[in-house]
Amino acid sequence: SIVSPLLRTGYHFQPPRNWINDPNAPMYYKGWYHLFYQYNPKGAVWGNIVWAHSVSRDLINWIALDPAISPSIPSDQYGCWSGSATLLHDGTPAITYTGISRPNINYQVQVLAFPKNASDPLLREWVKPAAYNPIASPVGGINATQFRDPTTAWFADGHWRMLVGSVRGGGRGLAYVYRSRDFQTWTRAKHPLHSAMTGMWECPDFFPVSGAGLRGGLDTSERGAKYVLKNSLDLTRYDYYTVGSYDKGKDRYYPDDPSGDYRRRRYDYGNFYASKTFYDPAKRRRVLLGWANESDSVTDDKAKGWAGIHAIPRKIWLDPSGKQLLQWPIEEVERLRGKPVTVAGGKVVKPGGHFEVTGLATAYQADVEVSFEVSSVLDRAEAFDPAYENDAQKLCGVKGADVRGGVGPFGLWVLASADLRERTAVFFRVFKDGYGKPKVLMCTDPTKSSLSPDLYKPTFAGFVDTDISSGKISLRSLIDRSVVESFGAGGKTCILSRVYPSIAIGKDAHLYVFNNGEVDVKVSHLTAWDMKKPLMNGA
Ligand code: FRU
Repeated sequence: SIVSPLLRTGYHFQPPRNWINDPNAPMYYKGWYHLFYQYNPKGAVWGNIVWAHSVSRDLINWIALDPAISPSIPSDQYGCWSGSATLLHDGTPAITYTGISRPNINYQVQVLAFPKNASDPLLREWVKPAAYNPIASPVGGINATQFRDPTTAWFADGHWRMLVGSVRGGGRGLAYVYRSRDFQTWTRAKHPLHSAMTGMWECPDFFPVSGAGLRGGLDTSERGAKYVLKNSLDLTRYDYYTVGSYDKGKDRYYPDDPSGDYRRRRYDYGNFYASKTFYDPAKRRRVLLGWANESDSVTDDKAKGWAGIHAIPRKIWLDPSGKQLLQWPIEEVERLRGKPVTVAGGKVVKPGGHFEVTGLATAYQADVEVSFEVSSVLDRAEAFDPAYENDAQKLCGVKGADVRGGVGPFGLWVLASADLRERTAVFFRVFKDGYGKPKVLMCTDPTKSSLSPDLYKPTFAGFVDTDISSGKISLRSLIDRSVVESFGAGGKTCILSRVYPSIAIGKDAHLYVFNNGEVDVKVSHLTAWDMKKPLMNGA
């Protein structure tokens, strides 16, 4: 097939060419944000993994440097896999990552690296001291091929502690705890921080959060009102988190949710994996970075010469309920906004109706914020079938954007062709449960996103824990040529989706508001902006 170069994203993170996956070791150092990432220097498919390296002043404009960490010692000669950065007491950064030390069998060990010259703010060169590497090996019953992705370390009571993801017999995913006094000699704790019957835990992340509703971030070694543990489940390829408490004496974590459902909450209900947070001392916030894979074919990726992007960095904090996180694109992305286009407040979309948001020069590269208001929330809402309680995605697969509802589906058609043959729907649909309470579903439906064959077009969905009794709900979508990243109800539910239109590309992409329910939907506010292209690694 012919892949249009116009589908290459404009303001999402990516290198000029080739394959990328996980974000690694994000940190702020001497005025620069550093981002490393899993990279294949030789092609657009996974392999030959090194740590590519970019720096930024604002997490939006990026300058590419040479790869920072490549196979060079026995411990990492067959690959340099994911890892994290920790700032030591004297301010020196340390990186811990997984090295592949034997051919073919993916024998995994943990490696420690330091900057060759800590006074270089760009941290261009890294050394892996032979004296203590590897710092952890798969001994004592650890599964050697499933032992990876060390976290940022935190300091408490005289010891550094870090986690390494793994799985043990029968499919129990877990995070081993390693402790060290000097950051060089590490000992595994008897008990893991936590475990669950979920299969392998890749890329664990563990961090404190301030109290409910407090937006300020905490350094990983600070004491949190609550803690968040995230794991990337190899089995489902999604990132799940729980909110809970941490006993630093025992080095154990206890999730709050009494149901013990480890798959209840996701950072993102779409294409978003192997994410990692870091504390940004410059803006006292915690920032989340994640990888979004392609969903076109490998043949297409090879033809394009690139595969993989990162989501727009998100600020995250604990929701006032204390039960979940809230996420919002970092404010710096707003500097890419051009002239705003607004829709006169109070515009009503009738059942089955839609209208175009005109005046955007680049509807293919845009930021849209919209607030909806539905008058009769409950009486016209569809009954919720409890069979879908734990499967929003399945529900959305059955009730897609074109299936008429009561209250909704209403939302946006993005990357839409003028004849609407191509369109990606981002929308809400309101149900009422057995107790007469509204239940809100947020969904991205890409089934009409492209006329091209051979595309993976999964509908993605999550429930939105919001009180919609007032009838109000907001949506923000970051549209960027082959990605749509949406934030429902102020960041309660997020969905990133990759789409590859064949006609709704470049100037032929349009933006619409639609209502496929039975009740009127009022657009109380809508502003959209063209988005400029930042510096993107020289591409
Ligand atoms: C997650 C992952 C990690 C591993 C890396 C290899 O996407 O599989 O577990 O360290 O990618 O590239």
